[in-house]
Amino acid sequence: MRLHINVDHVATLRNARGTPYPDPIEAARMCLDAGAHGITAHLREDRRHIRDNDVERLRATLRSTFNLEMASTDEMIDIACKVVPDVVTLVPERREERTTEGGLEVAKAPPALRTHVEKLRAADIKVSLFIAPDLAQVEASHALGVEQIELHTGEYAHAAGDAEVEKRELARLAAASTRGRELGLEIAAGHGLTTKNVGALVAIPEIVELNIGHAVVADAVFIGLPGAVRAMLAAIDKGRARR
Ligand code: PXP
Repeated sequence: MRLHINVDHVATLRNARGTPYPDPIEAARMCLDAGAHGITAHLREDRRHIRDNDVERLRATLRSTFNLEMASTDEMIDIACKVVPDVVTLVPERREERTTEGGLEVAKAPPALRTHVEKLRAADIKVSLFIAPDLAQVEASHALGVEQIELHTGEYAHAAGDAEVEKRELARLAAASTRGRELGLEIAAGHGLTTKNVGALVAIPEIVELNIGHAVVADAVFIGLPGAVRAMLAAIDKGRARR
């Protein structure tokens, strides 16, 4: 199981005051030192947290996997082809949303999505698509020729405590994971994951990567970033052991 920490909200805190600190690149280094396997950052079209310069510095300094999330637009694909992160995760993006609210619509995607995937692959970049745990989306992702899908765990995470909804969402995530593996896709997951809800999710054996941001940065306020990363790794290990 790979844990990639999303450092967007370290940049959110920095940008709130226009100071050079806290630096998301320094945060990335600390996360890796604490045992994370990679770093994720989302360059949004409005640059509300991570900025172009952060992306360049992450690429220049990271020796572990760098997963760059972005919308499927010509501008973003050009940036990715220049920076060449290890992975690009294509996500849907709406300016008015607080965070990525839904999965990418792959099954009815405009032709540009295929062009963008092909450009990234031609630049030797692994491509992952952030999708809802729906079989139609999984199959459409496979048809586009990507290596990986990241299943949106928001519906599961937001069920917080409603056992019925949690059970239903975990079943959807498990079915999408099984279908994805049958098709040869690597399965990642993310969104809204915390030390409390990650355990049941990692019981799904096909999931090999998690992208987690907000909860780790929030925990870091109280226990420090290395402590927050280690707590998440421990929660994942505990969940895996329960399988
Ligand atoms: N994965 C993707 C594709 C995302 O867009 C996000 C949010 O930026 C995350 C994972 C991380 O979600 P969270 O910050 O809720 O952990």
